[in-house]
Amino acid sequence: MCGIFGYCNYMVEKSRGEVIDTLVEGLQRLEYRGYDSTGIAVDGDEPGKTLIIKQIGKVAALKKEIERVNPDRTIPLVNHVGIAHTRWATHGEPSKVNCHPQRSDPENHFVVVHNGIITNFRELKTLLTQKGYTFESDTDTECIAKLFKHLYDSNLKDGYELDFNELTKQVLMELEGSYGLLCRSSNYPGEVIATRKGSPLLIGVKSDRKLKVDFVDVEFPDNDGKVPEEPIPSKTIGTSSLASNHVNDTERNLFTPLAVNETALRYSQSRAFLSEDDIPIPIEFFISSDAASVIKHTKKVLFLEDDDIAHIYDGELHIHRSRREIGENATRPIQTLEMELAQIMKGPYKHFMQKEIFEQPESTFNTMRGRIDFVNNTVKLGGLHSWIPTIRRARRLIMIACGTSYHSCLATRAMFEELSELPVSVELASDFLDRKTPVFRDDVCVFVSQSGETADTMLALNYCLERGALSVGIVNTVGSSISRVTHCGVHINAGPEIGVASTKAYTSQYIALVMFALSLSDDRISVIDRRTEIIQGLKKIPEQIREVLKLEETIKRLSSDELADQKSLLILGRGYQFASALEGALKIKEISYMHSEGVLAGELKHGVLALVDENLPIIAFGTRDSLFPKVVSSIEQVTARKGKPIIICNKNDDVWNKKKQSIKGLVTLEVPQTVDCLQGLINIIPLQLMSYWLAVNKGYDVDFPRNLAKSVTVE
Ligand code: F6R
Repeated sequence: MCGIFGYCNYMVEKSRGEVIDTLVEGLQRLEYRGYDSTGIAVDGDEPGKTLIIKQIGKVAALKKEIERVNPDRTIPLVNHVGIAHTRWATHGEPSKVNCHPQRSDPENHFVVVHNGIITNFRELKTLLTQKGYTFESDTDTECIAKLFKHLYDSNLKDGYELDFNELTKQVLMELEGSYGLLCRSSNYPGEVIATRKGSPLLIGVKSDRKLKVDFVDVEFPDNDGKVPEEPIPSKTIGTSSLASNHVNDTERNLFTPLAVNETALRYSQSRAFLSEDDIPIPIEFFISSDAASVIKHTKKVLFLEDDDIAHIYDGELHIHRSRREIGENATRPIQTLEMELAQIMKGPYKHFMQKEIFEQPESTFNTMRGRIDFVNNTVKLGGLHSWIPTIRRARRLIMIACGTSYHSCLATRAMFEELSELPVSVELASDFLDRKTPVFRDDVCVFVSQSGETADTMLALNYCLERGALSVGIVNTVGSSISRVTHCGVHINAGPEIGVASTKAYTSQYIALVMFALSLSDDRISVIDRRTEIIQGLKKIPEQIREVLKLEETIKRLSSDELADQKSLLILGRGYQFASALEGALKIKEISYMHSEGVLAGELKHGVLALVDENLPIIAFGTRDSLFPKVVSSIEQVTARKGKPIIICNKNDDVWNKKKQSIKGLVTLEVPQTVDCLQGLINIIPLQLMSYWLAVNKGYDVDFPRNLAKSVTVE
């Protein structure tokens, strides 16, 4: 979805040019989150003025616009706040007027960048229009900026000069929907508000001085020390009966092991100070939707939680709550990011997607590293280990995810059922919610997500928590909402995935789910041999992926010679390979814009066969497993109708070698053989490469497919 970035420098002298460059660079690293328009806001030429520069298109276009506007880069900014945004449109088409920052009025008194959707924006707009505000854009965000101004003015009229935090609380009370937002104001120079509900936000802290953290244990400091008359209602979220049986409740939230917890910013509905007592120190803050844009500057970050209001001024960070709940966990640790800058750079590759496809030998290895003992054939997942006996008692397991993450669940479902002997259902998060699926306290719900922020998956997670189910997260992004809200889980450790089309996250999710199933079954004597076979199969996966990647040249040629001018493509798979067919088809659709459909081979004769002729390109998974004879028979139905499928098969397979001699035009792509339930890890690679080269050959922007964004934080 959209990316937001803020930069604050206190007692650190920067020229306006340097501040602009920092903002623009931050946006470049967030561009994958949305790239239809961008904008920044910094101090204007005169005190109290705000300069906004925005442009349709990507950050490169914004850079040109900045050159055209040609702001004076030499103005010194010592205590300053700059905010920036890269947009993926939800309300209002991509146009200059709809770009963020959005403003309260032509004098730019309040400017806001926002990720999320304000669902009651029409009502707010009507109300504010009646109060005399004129709206310039079609965005929901504009009403936030205008609401800030309206409430500021009306309080002032009533004789109250609210501080920025108090004003923000009043604004948030009026907003419905989701937001991660930054607001700067000429009424509060050098101050910024960062607040979130349903959209990620983190704050990087950089200072060469030692930071002192005060723990101000005041119970209701936002109420002038008075206890509110009405007790604040506690969360409606229920407690899992499975979870409540669990002895070690400290393992809730964020999977272990945690990033180094250097120091804890503690507050009890109060404040956190970063400076030495009240003496200001030189300090910089980087606020962002994603650690990728902060890592260059600092590795010390704290993640905001829903309903947090971070108020930064005078070099201090204060965190308040917009809603106070009794008994809530009130610590925000400063964590040290383990990510390296090199991980988020393209290196020798032309696109992030290509880099991430080629990283899979390492990323799959990293998913397993330190978790599988290949000598003793055992698996231990730190964030799940102590929960395994509890999960075994579950009535059923429900896997819930979207898109590619959903496919990783489908790919591992049969293996999960086989090893765990638990009934497993796999659900698309949106459909799961639409159906109001019954969920019970003895269910275990597994949420799989690369970003850990996908709105549909998050909503499904809250739905399951309210019904008391035990929740497990399978997540790539450390510190993400899903990893925080679930009871326990596994980080897949694939490293940052920047390309919008998910590739390495898929294979790592797949492996994490296999390891989860292996952990569940380590008490079952009847599956010892099967477990050993799978564990030894996993050991070889990184090398086998490396081998498949050598097919790139062949696939590149196929993509330009045979497939480039095609309008449509069918991908056939059965059993374990049905998920590969769906995932391959999704990759091809989203990157090359070619219509492609994953078809269950067994369903071919029930309708899809009508499409088959000598022209329609078909890819079929013909690797060896127990369903091989049935797959061969489906492919024969295709060749009998003059179809010329491309078969993804195992090396030196006699069946396909013979068929190649008898069927003109039959092409094979040979991949190494592994255990049946792991073959999907190998088989997906040729299709990832194919989607990549189809798109490159057509000249499409691989890392930024049209209409899509990396992290879908709106419903
Ligand atoms: C496709 C793709 C999407 C995501 C989906 C869920 O390549 O990336 O289908 O898989 O939006 O996202 P996460 O995994 O972040 O929840």
